[in-house]
Amino acid sequence: MMVITSPGEMTRFAESARASGKRIGLVPTMGFLHEGHLTLMREGRRQSSVLVASIFVNPTQFCPGEDFARYPRNFERDCAMLQTVPVDIVFAPEPSAMYSPDAQTWVEAGEITSGLCGPHRPGHFRGVTTVVAKLFNIVKPHLAVFGEKDFQQLRAIQKMVRDLNFDVEIIPVPIVREKDGLAMSSRNAYLSPAEREDALALSLALRAAREKHRAGACCAEEIEFAAIRVLKRMRGVAIEYVEAVDAETLARHPSLERPILIAIAARVGKTRLIDNTVLQP
Ligand code: PAF
Repeated sequence: MMVITSPGEMTRFAESARASGKRIGLVPTMGFLHEGHLTLMREGRRQSSVLVASIFVNPTQFCPGEDFARYPRNFERDCAMLQTVPVDIVFAPEPSAMYSPDAQTWVEAGEITSGLCGPHRPGHFRGVTTVVAKLFNIVKPHLAVFGEKDFQQLRAIQKMVRDLNFDVEIIPVPIVREKDGLAMSSRNAYLSPAEREDALALSLALRAAREKHRAGACCAEEIEFAAIRVLKRMRGVAIEYVEAVDAETLARHPSLERPILIAIAARVGKTRLIDNTVLQP
């Protein structure tokens, strides 16, 4: 496994791999890897002949007051985990190599980022789509793998790829959960044992929403209420939003005749967690 930190060197490597007929897969991450990331890596491995994992804690997707400085990092441990996949290249640039001080160009995916996490994290999605566009230009992948846990991010990236004609196939991978249902996330590392218990409310709330949908809910709001009821029972959980939206467009007031996304964001102590599930009609 080779570690590359220079965007120029990464691009030269990618160009020569492409010239020799290799299929490049990219799994973008911000590091502090867990089993969920490794599932993405294994899917990337299955579908590509050269697998690149990027590790870059992207400053432009953190809003003021968010956890950029204290975001968990452990490069050595990440590399040891990536070696087990195995990954061919770890692309780990410094922020100064990715953004020149006078950079002023952004990629914004529009309407799809206006709801759910959008209003709570101003500037977040434009940071994500901008860095992913840059990674695509640098790594030149044929395919890129993203988790469905960040469902709105996945839809924003799919939209960007379509709208800007990126020649990259986006491979979505379902959420990986702990045995008790908690969705895996690097931010779970912030939770105390008591908060870790409280955090289970998110997956339990999604389960309640699924049951209400299966039992024949009359409307999306009724499904939202079923989830909210479960979250409210847990004192350590502060709801940011619980929304049922169209799983394709992420628009409010979805028709129950179509797949709907139930998305939750909540704070457990100081930690902001998200989770979701897609309900089929
Ligand atoms: O999902 C993440 O870890 C990040 O948002 C991503 C896609 C690596 C961009 O920084």
